[in-house]
Amino acid sequence: MQATGLGCSYHGRAVVSDVELSVPAGQTVAVLGPSGAGKSTMLRCLAGLEPLHSGSVRFQGETLSRAGGRPRSVGGRIGMVFQQFNLFPHLSAAQNVALAPVRARRLPKKQARAQARALLDRVGLGEHADHYPYELSGGQQQRVAIARALAMEPELMLFDEPTSALDPEFTREVLAVMRDLADSGMTVIVVTHEMNFARQSADRVVFMVDGRIVEDGPASVVLTNPRQERTRRFLDQMLGE
Ligand SMILES: Nc1ncnc2c1ncn2[C@@H]1O[C@H](COP(=O)(O)OP(=O)(O)O)[C@@H](O)[C@H]1O
Ligand SMILES: [Mg+2]
Repeated sequence: MQATGLGCSYHGRAVVSDVELSVPAGQTVAVLGPSGAGKSTMLRCLAGLEPLHSGSVRFQGETLSRAGGRPRSVGGRIGMVFQQFNLFPHLSAAQNVALAPVRARRLPKKQARAQARALLDRVGLGEHADHYPYELSGGQQQRVAIARALAMEPELMLFDEPTSALDPEFTREVLAVMRDLADSGMTVIVVTHEMNFARQSADRVVFMVDGRIVEDGPASVVLTNPRQERTRRFLDQMLGE
């Protein structure tokens, strides 16, 4: 995944500017930064969900999105998980996971159901496949949402503060699933405030302020020895909590 000169504006105001980000396959990148820094917008640009004001996004050798053009549909090749799980309330966990493969990839229903169960097993929810979202904790719902994204067999997973809506006990189980994914060789970009996850599971940390990437390096370097004073202040604040 390669973003070059990436810029995104709302109502003429630049929200993301001059972002250069190249993520090789298999890498796990944690994106940190204060609220309003443009992290979510950058992620949406990378996923082809926002028109670009400048620059381009390339994914697996093709231009996914460029300024002035309409983003190309990537099907499920880029999976996205948000803070809000957005499961269909009237469908069971397994049905939520099987829906897109049947609709978008035309996978036979039987096969989709088997795949859904295998994926729910993988995220530790094998026993809950037939439960409805209201019967599941927030952490369980978020793991269903991850399984749902994985059902489209993505080659890149984008997470936008996947644990911000969760209590600490449920945060842990979601982070464990994400760590598994990272370890399995998936390419992962995750916006998070979980410093331990960034330290232990990310190969690389990017720090954003005012729509720009101001630090980009190995987690061990950015988290312990950032170049910028404002990164240091942010980290002190996060770690002090
Ligand atoms: N759809 C939108 N329309 C207008 N402004 C937006 C929209 N989405 C985000 N913004 C603005 O863009 C800036 C960056 O937002 P965001 O990408 O959500 O930051 P972060 O995820 O780092 O908190 C904020 O000032 C926000 O108000
Ligand atoms: Mg955000």
